[in-house]
Amino acid sequence: MAATRVVVDIPGERPYDVRIGEGILADLGTKLAPVLEAQPPSRILIITDSNVAPLYLDACKQGLAALGCPISDITLPAGEEAKCIDVLAEVWNAMAALGLARDSVVVALGGGVVGDLAGFAGATFMRGLRVVQVPTTLLSMVDSSVGGKTGINLEAGKNLVGSFLQPSYVCASTDVLATLDVREWACGCAEIAKASVIDSDDFFFWLVENASLLAERNPDVVLEAIARSVVFKANVVAQDKTESRGVRECLNYGHTLGHAIEALAGYGTYSHGAAVAEGMRFAARLGQTLAGTPLELVEAQDALLDELGLPVLDWSAPAEDILAAMKRDKKNRQGAVRFVLPADVGQWELTAVDDETILEHLRLYFGE
Ligand SMILES: NC(=O)c1ccc[n+]([C@@H]2O[C@H](COP(=O)([O-])OP(=O)(O)OC[C@H]3O[C@@H](n4cnc5c(N)ncnc54)[C@H](O)[C@@H]3O)[C@@H](O)[C@H]2O)c1
Repeated sequence: MAATRVVVDIPGERPYDVRIGEGILADLGTKLAPVLEAQPPSRILIITDSNVAPLYLDACKQGLAALGCPISDITLPAGEEAKCIDVLAEVWNAMAALGLARDSVVVALGGGVVGDLAGFAGATFMRGLRVVQVPTTLLSMVDSSVGGKTGINLEAGKNLVGSFLQPSYVCASTDVLATLDVREWACGCAEIAKASVIDSDDFFFWLVENASLLAERNPDVVLEAIARSVVFKANVVAQDKTESRGVRECLNYGHTLGHAIEALAGYGTYSHGAAVAEGMRFAARLGQTLAGTPLELVEAQDALLDELGLPVLDWSAPAEDILAAMKRDKKNRQGAVRFVLPADVGQWELTAVDDETILEHLRLYFGE
C-alpha cells in the first residue's frame, strides 16, 4: 500500500513531514533517524492512553527500536478528562523520574487528547523537548496532530492553557484506524468535511464524490482524505501560525454552534464532530442571509454530512440559551458572536453577527 508525505513548512519553523500510509508504524524509527540526526535522543518517552496502549504500544516500540535508544512509556486514562493539570503534573513528575534530558524525544501515541497533553508536556519540560505525533484517531490524523497547538483544559474552559510547539514529525499509520468505533470515525469525517468546504471546489467535490467510500473506510479514499486535509491544515497554519492573522479562524467553521451544543447538551452527549456538523449546517444557512451562500452549497453540504454518518441531531434548546452558551465560549468573550460563513466553497468570511439575527436564525433552524 502506498504511503504519501506532506511537508508542513511554516515560516520561522523547521519544516516537518507528515507521513500517511498503511503499516508505516513499523518503520517509524528508520524514518525518524534522519529527522533526529542533529541530536540523537538519549531516551524516548511514549505517552499513550489506556485504550491505545493494549492495541498499538508494542508496535510503536518495535517501530522505534531502529533508533537504538531506551524507550519508556506512560499510559494516561483514556478520555477528555485526562487533559487536565493533575494528569499533566503526573506526566511532568514521571519525565523527571525517568531522567529525561534536553535531547529526549516525546512520542504522542493516541488521539487528540494524548496529542495535546503530550505535546504540552513536551513543550514545557526542561523548556521544551522534541515531540513526534503518532495520531491514532481520524480526527487527530486530519487535524490535531498538525499545526502545533498543544494544551490542557481547566475547570473554567477547554484548552485554556497551552502553547504552540510544532512536532518534529507526524506518522499517521492508517491501519490503526481499523479499531476506531463508528462515533469516532464520524467525528473525524466532520473535520474532513469542514476542511473541504473551506478549502476549494477541488477538495469539496472530490469528497462529495467519494463520501460513501470514506464512510465505508475504503483504504485509498481514507488515505487521500487524510492527505488532502493535512495539506489544507498545513496551508492555513503556514499563513497564521499562532491564530493572530485572521486566517486560522477558518478552522472554526461549524464550531460556534458546535461548541454551544456540546456545552448545553453536556460534554460527551454528542461527539465533537456531530456537534460541528450541526454547526456547519446552521452556519451555511446563516450564510445564505449574510454572505450570499448559494442554496446549492447548503444542500450539497447537508447531503455530504448525511452520507458521512453525521445526520441532523435530534436536539434543540431555546434560542436564548444557545446564544448565551455561544457568548460564554472563549472565542466570543470580547463582544459579538463571530461565525465563519461560507460565501461559497473555498470562500469564507469571519462575520460578527448581532444577537437579533442569531436568535432569528436559531428559531428558524430549530423550528421554534
Ligand atoms: N491541537 C489541535 O489543533 C486540536 C484540534 C482539534 C481537536 N483537538 C483536541 O483533540 C481532542 C479530541 O481528539 P480525539 O477526537 O482524537 O479524541 P480522543 O483522543 O479522546 O480519542 C477518542 C477515543 O478513541 C480512543 N482511540 C484512540 N485511537 C484509537 C484507535 N486507533 N482505536 C480505538 N480507539 C482509539 C481513545 O482512547 C478515546 O477513547 C480534544 O481534546 C480537542 O480539544 C486539538
